[in-house]
Amino acid sequence: MTDQLLVFDTTLRDGEQSPGASMTCEEKVRIARALERLRVDVIEAGFPIASPDDFKAVKAVAEAITESRVCGLARALTKDIDRAAEALKSAKAARIHTFIATSPIHMREKLRMGADDVLANAVKAVQYARKFTDDVEFSAEDAGRSDPDFLCRVMEAVIAAGARTVNIPDTVGYSVPAQFGQLVASLMNRVPNADKAIFSVHCHNDLGLAVANSLAAVLQGARQVECTINGLGERAGNAALEEIVMAVRTRRDVFACDTGIQTAHIVTASRLVSTITGFAVQPNKAIVGANAFAHEAGIHQDGVIKNRETYEIMRAEDVGWSANRMVLGKHSGRNAFRARLAEIGVTLKDDAALNQAFERFKELADKKHEIFDEDLQALVSEGAILAVESVKLTSLEVASGTGTKPHARICLAWDGREQAAEAHGGGPVDAAFRAIEAVVGSGASLSLYAVNAITSGTDAQGEVTVRLEREGRIVNGHGADTDIVLASAKAYLNALNKLLVPDNRTHPQSPRAI
Ligand code: KIV
Ligand code: ZN
Repeated sequence: MTDQLLVFDTTLRDGEQSPGASMTCEEKVRIARALERLRVDVIEAGFPIASPDDFKAVKAVAEAITESRVCGLARALTKDIDRAAEALKSAKAARIHTFIATSPIHMREKLRMGADDVLANAVKAVQYARKFTDDVEFSAEDAGRSDPDFLCRVMEAVIAAGARTVNIPDTVGYSVPAQFGQLVASLMNRVPNADKAIFSVHCHNDLGLAVANSLAAVLQGARQVECTINGLGERAGNAALEEIVMAVRTRRDVFACDTGIQTAHIVTASRLVSTITGFAVQPNKAIVGANAFAHEAGIHQDGVIKNRETYEIMRAEDVGWSANRMVLGKHSGRNAFRARLAEIGVTLKDDAALNQAFERFKELADKKHEIFDEDLQALVSEGAILAVESVKLTSLEVASGTGTKPHARICLAWDGREQAAEAHGGGPVDAAFRAIEAVVGSGASLSLYAVNAITSGTDAQGEVTVRLEREGRIVNGHGADTDIVLASAKAYLNALNKLLVPDNRTHPQSPRAI
């Protein structure tokens, strides 16, 4: 008999905590829809008390999603739980996820609380959350470094208080597989009411072991894994959803369980998350990297041609490679455009949004022969950017070439009026950025500039990621265009637009966490 392994996706919460990965409400709903298409069991949509925008995003996801359970995070505080419950009110199926740290270092240094108080707060939080929903999850933050005896007491008490899922996070990515699996096994054996809850794991990747630790726990009976698309997350990230799902599926002989994930949508979801966050996927990343199914060495190619199983343990099409590369072009009409958007999981909010997106599609089709799914995602993202722009590009001209000093002239709509500036630079992109700063004067420093071709061919759109930093705040911006300099200017402006919005979010795990 195969057990079900529940997939709890936290791309929108823990993934978004990654510096520079913040997303707009509309972007979160778009990713939530892609997760729903994947048939993720639980979507952690955010931390509603963090800010009004976070609250709004969790609410919007709760309203949009019907097939997956929608979850909101809350510290073990009634005010957090109230806010989460309010944001989740309209969810078809809601979960409240409450947590408190249980490791000696976190209790002593961060919470400044004794173990008994931590336990009492955990129980109170679970009981309080149960007033709003039957589906309450409790996490013992930094369980990986907690005393197993204390963890047993906490787990027993929160299960008795009504937690249906108990989560063992390796918050700082300190665990190693054999030991982490052993921890989960011992908790499941020693906690007297362990059979009344699902044991879950949530692993961070600081030692590159997040997926291995999660799978070690699954082998010991954990039946929920918390993960993110592309392994997005703070520092080295969280366990990657696609890797866990495909490991369990490919090695059914080892894992006595399987997920309900529709794996053919994995690549689309991966691209969407990377386009929206601007976090590129490394080419050799398992499952979703551009080289994950590419065979270079002649001997491998020969083997694959004779029998693919000589070197391939999974089929590329099973995770969505090549399956959805149907192209649109200059002559494609609005219906084909709308249908393709729907197939890749994009629903625009009304006819006006569709018309605007279709206009941009036509402009792109004039410049580019074939339009791929990746182009469509970038195009829709660009529409979303426009909706929140406070500084907008009106025009950009650049001149560069042998023997000339690169020069840019830019015209921006900023501060309620059109403003122009010119600048020289080391190259056309540098000149364009300097011209933008001559108008806006943000004082930000550029800490990352990356260009990636969205598709192949010399007419491919370049997708540019720009990371800006100012006073400790980090934002990523992205832009796409067949003209790299224009894509770069769009990316820079996108990052600036994010930087110009004040950020007063509360981080769930900050030292002020209680
Ligand atoms: O890593 C962690 O401990 C968390 C908890 C809030 C579950 O993200
Ligand atoms: Zn985490």
